[in-house]
Amino acid sequence: MAHGKNSSLRKKDFVDYVAVLEKTTRWKKNAASMLTGRLEQMKKGEQVWVAEVDTRGVGFMILAPNHDDSLEVDWLDVHPDFQRLGIGTLLLKKAVSVAKAKKKQALSIHTWESNQKTLGFAYKNGFEKYETIKNFYGKRKDAVRLKKNIL
Ligand SMILES: CC(C)(COP(=O)(O)OP(=O)(O)OC[C@H]1O[C@@H](n2cnc3c(N)ncnc32)[C@H](O)[C@@H]1OP(=O)(O)O)[C@@H](O)C(=O)NCCC(=O)NCCS
Repeated sequence: MAHGKNSSLRKKDFVDYVAVLEKTTRWKKNAASMLTGRLEQMKKGEQVWVAEVDTRGVGFMILAPNHDDSLEVDWLDVHPDFQRLGIGTLLLKKAVSVAKAKKKQALSIHTWESNQKTLGFAYKNGFEKYETIKNFYGKRKDAVRLKKNIL
């Protein structure tokens, strides 16, 4: 059902990724330029993964090694029509195997403090809150960081 790629995105994957971000973020018409900006800033060791249903990309994840012993699930988005089907969990499993291959001991994820979907998802998958970052998403919108030990 799902497979991943860690090289540069195919045109089709880019189009599917934008279609997902248009639904899961507030960027709407800016989704393509936001994604382009993120891809242009990809650093060494960062990877993009796609989960496909048939040949359609419906779940996407960007992994970024942190400076400590953890791998960041930096972006994680599943198309609303395909949520609650286990696709986010499948992508996290891939993140765990990538983290282990990189000799990392934990996964981390961040989101805003009222993002109940992601928080519910993270708790269900064994993450625990460990840090709040003030004003991460602009004035008065704090980020919560969560970690999951994978050893
Ligand atoms: C968070 C997200 C990636 C989860 O993806 P998903 O494919 O729906 O997740 P799964 O189907 O693997 O869910 C696994 C478990 O997580 C929890 N969960 C998932 N969605 C949830 C929700 N909306 N509310 C509460 N818990 C939720 C549930 O316990 C679920 O298990 P269940 O369906 O058996 O009850 C998806 O909701 C999403 O893309 N959200 C919008 C984008 C976003 O906010 N990304 C993060 C930005 S930092």
